[in-house]
Amino acid sequence: MSRPHTPLIEPDEYFRTHAAPEELAVNEKAMELFVAKHRAAGRRIAVVTSGGTTVPLENQTVRFIDNFSAGTRGATSAEYPFYHTYFLELGYAVIFLHRQFSLQPYSRHYTHSKNCFLDYMGLGPDGQLTVDSQYSQKMKEVLTKYHKAKQEETLLMISFVTVTDYLFHLRSAAFIVGSMGEKALFYLAAAVSDFFIPAEKMVEHKIQSDGGGLTLTMEQVPKVLKPLVTKWASQSFIISFKLETDPEILTTKARRALNRYGHKVVIGNLLTTRKQIVWFITNDTEETVTLTNEQLAQGVEIESKIVPNLIERHTAFIESSGRLLSVSPKQTNLGV
Ligand code: PMT
Repeated sequence: MSRPHTPLIEPDEYFRTHAAPEELAVNEKAMELFVAKHRAAGRRIAVVTSGGTTVPLENQTVRFIDNFSAGTRGATSAEYPFYHTYFLELGYAVIFLHRQFSLQPYSRHYTHSKNCFLDYMGLGPDGQLTVDSQYSQKMKEVLTKYHKAKQEETLLMISFVTVTDYLFHLRSAAFIVGSMGEKALFYLAAAVSDFFIPAEKMVEHKIQSDGGGLTLTMEQVPKVLKPLVTKWASQSFIISFKLETDPEILTTKARRALNRYGHKVVIGNLLTTRKQIVWFITNDTEETVTLTNEQLAQGVEIESKIVPNLIERHTAFIESSGRLLSVSPKQTNLGV
């Protein structure tokens, strides 16, 4: 592997030189309506990003580079704000910004599985659809929760495919949802590509295979966490994830991200253990959240620990912002 020295592209330049996805305007409208509705209802809003992004190799894309993420973390996490009574009391609505065809909240229990969901069902003696009794209780629970989220319109699904789709949608979501200030939470669990081929350097047509091997030069995708934290949604509660495969560097890299971007929490995880252990890293604390082997075997999901932990932190953040707001006029008076 060679690492050619390509110039870093700044986020502003990236957005100037890449075309916005066609569906962006429609999705922005949907997000605006969603925010207006839930703002009026006094709810908080969480933007959950989920799944991998693709990097096309051709403009008329036949081939692309992808990554491992199935969107389990994001899809699972997006359900939990609705599961816990106190979350309902606090009232979150969720924008689920996800990779198309990756796992989705609720339906995830029956898709991407080695067991075909059709095996959960059968036909009764008079031909009506039945659900095998060993699956029916769980299915009923999931369905009830899904119907509730639909009825209350507390879940907005927005999809992306390429890294460009993702970056444009994240920026729009940040502008729109960031207007909620500290009541907005960004949970950046998507596995975003780090390398790409800029639009003006991409070939139009399918790369031909009769010319021998292929060498690609990819450039670095601009890190959008910086403008997200400092400009687009600067008052909101932002959580990023840091994925590594080498345990030796995880905490250092997570801390570096906090220092570099100035947001609230980085959740560190390792590829092989990400369903059993994560590290919450803030400026002055480090907390390990784990599941025991027994819990894992029983089907407990680590997101059931991650999300409540974050909601508590978000509540404290809102309260401290409130205190700051109510303190500052006095300070101004004193200063005068
Ligand atoms: O989907 P699963 O299979 O359940 O896996 C979950 C997960 C491992 C993907 C998830 O837990 C996770 O760690 N997601 C973040 C992975 C990642 O992109 O890590 P990173 O170190 O490359 O990026 C760190 C942060 O920078 C990310 O929060 C990302 O939003 C942000 N980023 C990344 C690239 C980029 N160009 N701009 C960014 O702002």
